[in-house]
Amino acid sequence: MAEQGFLKQKPGFATLAIHHAQEPEKWSSSAVVVPIVTSTTFKQPAPAEHTGFEYGRSGNPTRNVLEECLAALEGGKHGFTFASGLGTTTTLLGLLKSGDHIISGDDVYGGTNRLFRTVAAAMNIETTFADFTKPDEVDKAVKENTKMVWLETPTNPNLKIADIATVVKAVKSHGEHILVVVDNTFLTSYLQRPLDFGADVVIYSLTKYMNGHSDVIMGAAILNNDELAERLRFLQNAMGVVPSPFDCYQVNRSLKTLALRMEQHKKSAQIIAEWLEKHPNVTEVMHPGLKSHPQHELAKKQMTGHSGVFSFKHSGGLQESRKFLQSLKVFTLAESLGGYESLAELPSVMTHASVPAAQRAELGITDSLIRLSVGLEDTEDLIKDLDHAFNVSF
Ligand SMILES: *Cc1c(COP(=O)(O)O)cnc(C)c1O
Ligand SMILES: *[C@@H]1O[C@H](CO)[C@@H](O)[C@H](O)[C@H]1NC(C)=O
Ligand SMILES: *[C@@H]1O[C@H](CO)[C@@H](O)[C@H](O)[C@H]1NC(C)=O
Repeated sequence: MAEQGFLKQKPGFATLAIHHAQEPEKWSSSAVVVPIVTSTTFKQPAPAEHTGFEYGRSGNPTRNVLEECLAALEGGKHGFTFASGLGTTTTLLGLLKSGDHIISGDDVYGGTNRLFRTVAAAMNIETTFADFTKPDEVDKAVKENTKMVWLETPTNPNLKIADIATVVKAVKSHGEHILVVVDNTFLTSYLQRPLDFGADVVIYSLTKYMNGHSDVIMGAAILNNDELAERLRFLQNAMGVVPSPFDCYQVNRSLKTLALRMEQHKKSAQIIAEWLEKHPNVTEVMHPGLKSHPQHELAKKQMTGHSGVFSFKHSGGLQESRKFLQSLKVFTLAESLGGYESLAELPSVMTHASVPAAQRAELGITDSLIRLSVGLEDTEDLIKDLDHAFNVSF
């Protein structure tokens, strides 16, 4: 069940999550207030001399522990956390300047799309949206002033897979300086490690699976390049989009169960996807772990498995979708994903309502496409819930 022909999980993941950078001996930060280190300032032995920490925005012991742990899980050298996933993207925009160009996936997270179209555009940074499942399209979109390439794989809500290594190769053939950023929120470092395939930066909305308890908004960026890390360290402090120590503590704690949680999300979602595929009212299930997924083979080459978020289409219309979603009792009708609780939503009128209708149609985001985030409840109860909702709505 766990293997299904996917890449072999690298050894030591759970051990790293629990032990890396957690040595109690390190707690000698001269904090004026003790851990959870809420102290905003740190005692200095002499003017302009410090023992590693001076001011809470530029560095905080609780935050540092989390950042080091995140980097280790990703197989990366440097980790940075930010006040939200979008705060991470905003800070990365600080690497660019007026006149630069971004190429972004055409079905990335709606907030990322909005940030590029509005905030970046106002700073005279132009964005081209392309289909990253076709590396040719990305190749053609590269311009002289292209500085950053932004992709999500699997995509949202269509669960299409982009070949990270091929995209990196196509982009880098135009210049090593073009940064390839992968938003890995849907899979976590447990199920996919984009740095291994040549990406420059991996970013997260830690709000989703990484924290997994639906009680923290936070983001992160992980990378290997020392020079780029220095620029990002500068921007983290200079732009100030930093998370709170308490939230860092929460995410640090959540990482201890990441491996266990992702195994269960993966297993349960696969069973539910296979069940849905056989349902008479379901016309299509988009889940990379299914043999019917058009890029199942590619998925197996760069992922160690799939998480709990996937979509399906049914034979009804908007009315059936509404009734179905309102009839669910274990699944909660809500946006977001990646928590211990199961969620269901209708992208056409919820998460993707801000996408222009024509683009929605082009992407196949119809009123009969439902997105699920399979949580950690008993799989049997989730299936019974879906079955009941079908029975009363179709
Ligand atoms: C939620 C999400 C974001 C934004 O993260 P926030 O923490 O809500 O700011 C970015 N990318 C993806 C894929 C997401 O799901
Ligand atoms: C991180 O979590 C582990 C396990 O819960 C704990 O031992 C460690 O003290 C935590 N570190 C911080 C900085 O919160
Ligand atoms: C759902 O499936 C049932 C059983 O096959 C069928 O009778 C019904 O017409 C279907 N409803 C829709 C809207 O496709």
